[in-house]
Amino acid sequence: MEKVKIFDTTLRDGEQTPRVNLNREDKIMIARQLEKLGVDIIEAGFPIASEGDFLGVEAVARTVEKPTVCALARCVKADIERAAEALKDAKHPRIHVFLATSDIHLTYKLKLSREEAVARAREMVAYAKSFVDDIQFSAEDASRTDKDFLCEIFGEVIRAGATTINIPDTVGFIQPAEYADFIAYIRNNTEGMDKVTISVHCHDDLGLGTANALGGVMGGARQVECTVNGLGERAGNSALEEVVMALDTRGKYYNLGTNVKTREIYRTSKLVTSLTGVEAAPTKSVIGMNCFLHESGIHQDGILKNRSTYEIMNPAKIGIPMNDGIVLGKHSGRHAFKAFLQHHGFELSEKKTDKAFREFKKLTDNKKYVTVEDITAIVIDEVPAQDNFRFVSYQSRTDENGETEVTVKLVNDGRELAATAVGNGQVDAAYKAINSIINRPVEITDYEICAVSGKSDALGEAKVRMKLGTREINTSGLDMDVIKASILAYIQGINKLGVTF
Ligand code: KIV
Ligand code: ZN
Repeated sequence: MEKVKIFDTTLRDGEQTPRVNLNREDKIMIARQLEKLGVDIIEAGFPIASEGDFLGVEAVARTVEKPTVCALARCVKADIERAAEALKDAKHPRIHVFLATSDIHLTYKLKLSREEAVARAREMVAYAKSFVDDIQFSAEDASRTDKDFLCEIFGEVIRAGATTINIPDTVGFIQPAEYADFIAYIRNNTEGMDKVTISVHCHDDLGLGTANALGGVMGGARQVECTVNGLGERAGNSALEEVVMALDTRGKYYNLGTNVKTREIYRTSKLVTSLTGVEAAPTKSVIGMNCFLHESGIHQDGILKNRSTYEIMNPAKIGIPMNDGIVLGKHSGRHAFKAFLQHHGFELSEKKTDKAFREFKKLTDNKKYVTVEDITAIVIDEVPAQDNFRFVSYQSRTDENGETEVTVKLVNDGRELAATAVGNGQVDAAYKAINSIINRPVEITDYEICAVSGKSDALGEAKVRMKLGTREINTSGLDMDVIKASILAYIQGINKLGVTF
């Protein structure tokens, strides 16, 4: 079956989601998981945008082997040079140059004539080609651009060496059938288009991101740009999980497939949620918490008789952990634990298995049965930050006036450090105590506690957004005791922020 290439832009357009900020380590973790997921291309960032973006792209380029690693650049020499430099260690590098082409953008934003735009695009594609062979050209706001002008500019950049032509619906304006016709028109009227890959990149302003991407595929596109959980600028991009599962579930209709290993979708989604701090809505297609829950009696009756009555996808196919009779508890040994991990598709090194096993054992002290959700949370929580500070213990006292005092003990480089503080509740007091140890102006910009599974003995997950100077990160901590989970999240956060003693 012919394949549609999946171009994941979670680390670039996805990172443009308001309040999302991925550091180098976050990008490495997500890129590793995207490689496991089987995406064809990873757009890792926009290197000219900041030093952090440059380092993120460089790190991803050094980390993954199979997927192409792509870096974004405007049609500006300095951008292209920076992109080429960030990609220099990539096995399969791609430079992605873009220029807006609609009259709205040319007139108001770029103040360029159409002729000047064609000349600039041609020249910059040729310049990018002097660094790498694989060049993608995007006509920003293509869906609001005169289609004959697009045929002209695309013909020119193909002659200059572009190998992928991206036709974005930058502002989420076009409609699915209209986009299919638009892509087909450009495909049939652009010289050289038969020798390159046509790509679509859609935004979700009218909730049509995925529908439009699939419309584009119907019109002849063979690369879809998307993001995990549909993250991205404004209303986000086409969601990877939706595009992939639509092509998978309706493969016969499209007569097309992808290289994605669908069983890695859920794990990827969870990892991205945890590192970006952006929670998907319960009703979010494919990966939302409600996607495989059935509330009405009629539906439950149907499901009990045959799941296909109300489910078009098998949750196992997406890697959604379902309780399947394998129960882990207090008496389960390392062997059973390892088999459980393997059964659910986790590939952990021996060292990580040991660490996860220790966490699991701690959990069984308080919890009779450990669920797959608990284990998934433990494993995903394994963020490899530099462990400058580690948790030792905490103690809390509340006096008769309701004043709370918390003592936190940490260890740093073998030295035990302790502090006590009074606060507005236990978490506030604990965070003040830690701040007095580290003596840095760390700020909490968001804090949330949630239960990992829906029972009263569930693991508590603290999700914290923290800021030090201009750097802002997301972090999380996991424990049955929500105060401890909050402290663990904070310690992981200060480690991620690179705080030293
Ligand atoms: O939405 C858009 O047009 C983009 C381009 C840079 C491809 O993100
Ligand atoms: Zn975009």
